[in-house]
Amino acid sequence: MYRIFVTRKIPEVGLQRLRAEKDFDVVVSPKDRVLTRAELKKGVKGADAILSLLTDRIDGEILDAAGKQLKIVANYAVGFDNVDLAAAKERRIVVTNTPSDIVSESVAEHTFALMMAVAHRIVESDTFTKKGKYKGWAPDLLTWTLLQGKTLGIVGLGRIGAAVARRGVGMGMKIVYHDVKANVEFEQQYQAEYHKTLDGLLAIADVVSLHVPLLPTTRHLMSTEQFNLMKRTAFLVNTSRGPVVDEKALVIALEQQRIAGAGIDVFECEPSIDCDLTDHHELKKMTNVVLTPHTASAAREARDAMAVIAVQNIIAVLRGRSAINPAI
Ligand code: DGY
Repeated sequence: MYRIFVTRKIPEVGLQRLRAEKDFDVVVSPKDRVLTRAELKKGVKGADAILSLLTDRIDGEILDAAGKQLKIVANYAVGFDNVDLAAAKERRIVVTNTPSDIVSESVAEHTFALMMAVAHRIVESDTFTKKGKYKGWAPDLLTWTLLQGKTLGIVGLGRIGAAVARRGVGMGMKIVYHDVKANVEFEQQYQAEYHKTLDGLLAIADVVSLHVPLLPTTRHLMSTEQFNLMKRTAFLVNTSRGPVVDEKALVIALEQQRIAGAGIDVFECEPSIDCDLTDHHELKKMTNVVLTPHTASAAREARDAMAVIAVQNIIAVLRGRSAINPAI
């Protein structure tokens, strides 16, 4: 029998597939919340496979608590910055993630929803209207920023960045992008312009959209210096990972009107909205900021796909095949 420990309930379509394997003993944590370290250590004991979430910190201590039989950590996310890859490699444990077109489309669509919500002042207008403040049409009532014809700056041209760019083109936006290397085919297809430096992109983009993984090199990629380079009329959208943005610097940039607004799905000290910003106005009080609780990949279709992919990886590895989506 193989023991599979699932750290929190995932969509049934994935669990059903796991349970259909006759020699799999599938244990799903009954607690519908993030497990404490102690609970996680206890839960993984004796597991051949761990199906983890991005909220579980999987490091050497957890891998050792599982035991030498552990073969795979299947992370239920595209990002895997919560898993210590070096520790897993040292122990010859496979780590997988859940990239797929449907997940990219979900994140890209949500990125656009945030972009449009901020540019069109949707939340502010909704509150205004529901509070009964609409007393009649006026030329200057809640005027907003047209995205058509503006420049969309994509930082990180992976699958998600490309899916966001495609939507930008559909909106009539000009695409500029920054990545470690240029993608000529993409440039030709979307008349996109490559910027070797982030600074070059920041200086011209009307919307800066972040799509990089969280790595030591991308932590605080956006900080005071970068916000100072952005146009005062520009918006920032972050659906990547919270620590890619220096949140304290973001708050100051917004307070000082260095940038025009932000759409934020991920937070530096998640699930807290502000890390240690007691001296500052909080993001949640700003009308030019739209916040969502890390739900960019929460399209039901995407979450189902993520469950199936995580499970397929577990089945492959426990059956002696190569992982379908190895994280490295
Ligand atoms: C991912 O897949 O990395 C997302 O952030 C989780 O929703």
